[in-house]
Amino acid sequence: MDNIKNYVGQNKDRFINELIELLKIPSVSADSAYSQDVINTADAVKASLEKAGCDHVEICETPGYPIVYGEKFIDKNLPTILVYGHYDVQPADPVELWSSPPFEPVIKKTDLHPDGAIFARGACDDKGQMYMHVKALEFMVQTNSLPCNVKFMIEGEEEVGSPSLAWFVERNQDKLANDVILISDTGMISNTQPSITTGLRGLSYVEVEVTGPNRDLHSGLYGGAVANPINVLAKMIAQLHDENNHITIPGFYDKVEELSREERDEMAKAPFSLDAYKQALDIEDVYGEATYTTNERNSIRPTLDVNGIWGGYTGEGAKTVIASKAYAKISMRLVPAQDWNEITQLFTKHFTSIAPKGVTVKVKPHHGGQAYVTPIEIVGYKAAALAYEESFGIKPIPVRSGGSIPIVALFEKELKSKTIMMGFGLDSDAIHSPNEHFGIFNYLKGIETIPLFYKHFTELSK
Ligand code: BES
Ligand code: MN
Ligand code: MN
Repeated sequence: MDNIKNYVGQNKDRFINELIELLKIPSVSADSAYSQDVINTADAVKASLEKAGCDHVEICETPGYPIVYGEKFIDKNLPTILVYGHYDVQPADPVELWSSPPFEPVIKKTDLHPDGAIFARGACDDKGQMYMHVKALEFMVQTNSLPCNVKFMIEGEEEVGSPSLAWFVERNQDKLANDVILISDTGMISNTQPSITTGLRGLSYVEVEVTGPNRDLHSGLYGGAVANPINVLAKMIAQLHDENNHITIPGFYDKVEELSREERDEMAKAPFSLDAYKQALDIEDVYGEATYTTNERNSIRPTLDVNGIWGGYTGEGAKTVIASKAYAKISMRLVPAQDWNEITQLFTKHFTSIAPKGVTVKVKPHHGGQAYVTPIEIVGYKAAALAYEESFGIKPIPVRSGGSIPIVALFEKELKSKTIMMGFGLDSDAIHSPNEHFGIFNYLKGIETIPLFYKHFTELSK
């Protein structure tokens, strides 16, 4: 423990500078304009794993962006940890809302990060958190304290639904065989109250298209007499929730498991201030499904949200027009036992059925994935809890997150292993938003905590 603290203390400037270099490459997987940068980032990750002491590192080509694979093998009788992370990032836009350019990292202090935080797209999600694992490995190799075998699998398509990773995992089950999967791509409650993410929601993401007349029309000559696709789309979307904010798609809740009163009471023990929550978002009140608390609404309950809506005239000034088409992107967050393919079908059937005469509706499924829950009785969870307790001096609380990492459920299906999510970000770190940042404290604490997981996991596995 002292060892790692010293090592981090002596090397922290270098650790920060190396991460800053990685953050300068705009590895936006969603936008093909950045494809060379995504590929360059894979090369940079490969080089960093080699430098940190992996014996064998390779760039694995896929139908999409490459997967960086590395391993350090010591003894086949020892456990093997598979570390997963992603080197791709979300698009930075709207760029004008950033206080400094998204790919020119700067360190600034914030209320929650008095020691400073690195501001850049990907700082927290997930380059910073992924790189903690590379530096933790460096420490264990340098000090001869790596207690078990380790494999790294760092992908470049997480932010677009991991299409190639599924392909890769299905074809490389032996190569990826492991005793536990370790991921830092989630958050924790606060820097004084660590938590371990024990749940991820599933996801069904669709795009809808409503078509009315065969061309854009003069809204004076035709208005009132033909269906306006934008009006219709807005009305259809409004019908997807009832007055209690329940989702109205028939069958949507059929498989949703209700938590017992005891489980809900247990959840409610996690420290949470509704006032601070509202204040941080500048909202007068929260909003959501009746009879559930804020923390329940964003973790154990499924949701439906419009992520984008467009059509008609949105340029400067006014144009009196009835558009031929209107569009929306809609995502549903799912909870365990809801099957994302089934939900996509239920959505499609319902959404097409509520369309009035005079328009046609198309639903195009995007990506999706199943929810996941880490049992807290397993060795991996216990090892993680001991690691946090040792490095923070405080016992971590298990928390179910509202976010999704769809590949985690697939890991369980294909590799038959459980995933431990040791996230060190804060909800306020603005992942996917302008001004994403990652606390220096969090980054260094992560590097300190990870080797303790290796130690406890190896000991508890004996
Ligand atoms: N790292 C996030 C997921 C996350 C963040 C989970 C914080 C829990 C806490 C991941 O990169 C992400 O953004 N996932 C997407 C889904 C993906 C298919 C695009 C998400 O949750 O929207
Ligand atoms: Mn992520
Ligand atoms: Mn993300």
